[in-house]
Amino acid sequence: MVNIPEHVNCLPRSGIRELMGLALCMEDAVHLEIGEPHFPTPSFVLDRLEPFYRLGEIKYTPTVGIPSLREKIAYTLDKEKGWKVDPSRIMILPGSLFGTVVVFQALLSGGDEVLIPEPGFTNHLHQVELSGATPLRYHLLSENSFLPDFTRIEETLTSSTKIILVNSPSNPLGVVFPEETMKNFARLAEKHNLVVISDEAYEKYVYEGKHNEMFRYVPPERLVSIFSFSKTYALTGWRVGYMVVPEELSCHLMKVEEYLIACTAHISQKAAEIALDMPDGDLSAMVECYKGNRDIACRLLEEAGFTFFPPQGGYYVWIDIREFGMPSLEFCKTLLKESCVALAPGDAFGESGEGFARISICRRREEIEEGIHRLVEFRKEFLG
Ligand SMILES: Cc1ncc(COP(=O)(O)O)c(C=O)c1O
Repeated sequence: MVNIPEHVNCLPRSGIRELMGLALCMEDAVHLEIGEPHFPTPSFVLDRLEPFYRLGEIKYTPTVGIPSLREKIAYTLDKEKGWKVDPSRIMILPGSLFGTVVVFQALLSGGDEVLIPEPGFTNHLHQVELSGATPLRYHLLSENSFLPDFTRIEETLTSSTKIILVNSPSNPLGVVFPEETMKNFARLAEKHNLVVISDEAYEKYVYEGKHNEMFRYVPPERLVSIFSFSKTYALTGWRVGYMVVPEELSCHLMKVEEYLIACTAHISQKAAEIALDMPDGDLSAMVECYKGNRDIACRLLEEAGFTFFPPQGGYYVWIDIREFGMPSLEFCKTLLKESCVALAPGDAFGESGEGFARISICRRREEIEEGIHRLVEFRKEFLG
């Protein structure tokens, strides 16, 4: 008999994946549970990739990525944001999700603590636990417009707190932190000597106001900024992202990436390199499409009398389901069974997500309309 260590034994399955698994067994389920863009890999990428893969020269690459991609990212950061980064500080990742794994493995040991948003992307929570460190939560409450309370954060952290993770635009809340909030994160990090991990996977998907990039507020020596090709260019299945890291940490982070993965798939790195040349119009068409989806989703939910937070950015609408009087997982399973529409249960994003559910707006327009229509009908029947 294999003895499974306690920290793995008690790992829950992701509630989002559980719902997705159930929905995939149903023929006509509407999938609003997952942050998977409905757009296929852009033909701009596929067409230009073909000559490369036909050559067959698809090999291991340097751990931190092919030089041409790292250079192109550095060029793009400068061109788009005026952010001057030496390519040596850019690490290519097999999906942006792997960036946090690498940083946690490299910087944390038992007894260290990481501040993470609650509710938040749960993978971060479990990655912290798997690294042997302790997660501390900072709450994003609806009564505070989902903005962090910095006084509370200062009461929560201890001398063992090493990292604070920030995710704006947020999954699952859709809040985009204003400049003042970013400045407060920077002050907090300076005062308590914290490394800031800024997960900016949804940076391009902002529908109200603007995305405030963390690099403008936190000095490079304490900042890791993580970006995703999955979300930005609809390249989810290629598994490719990157992070910009402090110069003095780069060699340690590289060692960890080297032992965990050796390198990101060569073909995916090439796809990412091509994607960076995509015409601006192709990208803004995707953003406009999701903005339209957001507007329609919000209108339908509002007309039906739901309580929800209209997302300022990201891929999701966060709705209040407390009126149904069921735990969120049970609610999502019942809704799926009765009405064939899958939503993500709020408790998959932390305890404070209980009583909420998340609707994806990155799906086809008709799916969103049909899914919300089914949800509204379910509500009418259930609440009378
Ligand atoms: C906040 C956040 N960060 C990272 C990721 C992972 O993205 P990737 O596909 O680049 O690993 C996700 C995916 O849903 C996410 O919501």
